[in-house]
Amino acid sequence: MKVTKAEIVISAVAEAQYPDDNLPEIVLLGRSNVGKSTFVNTLIERRSLARTSSQPGKTQTMNFYRINDVFYFVDMPGYGYAKASKTEREKWGKMIEKYLRNRENAVLIFQLIDSRHEPSEDDLLMYEWLIYYDLKPVIIGTKADKLSKTNQKKAVNRIAKSLNLKKSDELILFSAETKLGKDEVWECIHNVL
Ligand code: GTP
Ligand code: MG
Repeated sequence: MKVTKAEIVISAVAEAQYPDDNLPEIVLLGRSNVGKSTFVNTLIERRSLARTSSQPGKTQTMNFYRINDVFYFVDMPGYGYAKASKTEREKWGKMIEKYLRNRENAVLIFQLIDSRHEPSEDDLLMYEWLIYYDLKPVIIGTKADKLSKTNQKKAVNRIAKSLNLKKSDELILFSAETKLGKDEVWECIHNVL
């Protein structure tokens, strides 16, 4: 899809604020600083539509980006952000959970995991929660440019093993720097639209 229009429609904190134009929504989940906002910018080839930061905890609201008036990317606050207060983390957790459990417009979930490391406890909990609610995500291993080819292979195996993925489960290595995985991700998106 050639992106000719991309706009932030709302930074929502509650259900009443979700867009009501009934377009399909594609959701980005992952730990704080894993690269969710950068992922959106890379896919749509805009440097800074979604605000990014080297400091974790940048995205604190559910940001709805309308793409070509065809679908939304929903950029979520990161989970596992240690510096946020417990109350804040619980608030974001509830907000994300409520969205995922109730939102019928959500047609695809990308769960982003840092390919350089073993998936964290939070990554595993999130993944299991999604599976439990029959919301199986496509896994994205981010920041792959920071790994050598050999270590990229190892990363795929490490993630597959710790999430107990089947051969048929989707796992895409991604890099905002080299654009690795970008076409594959767009293919996933086209398949659900
Ligand atoms: P929160 O909004 O805090 O939840 O973080 P986020 O998941 O949206 O992460 P964000 O996109 O803001 O990226 C965090 C940092 O990682 C930034 O400094 C990005 O430049 C960097 N980053 C993201 N993707 C990549 C990548 O593919 N390669 C490299 N080398 N750096 C990346
Ligand atoms: Mg972000």
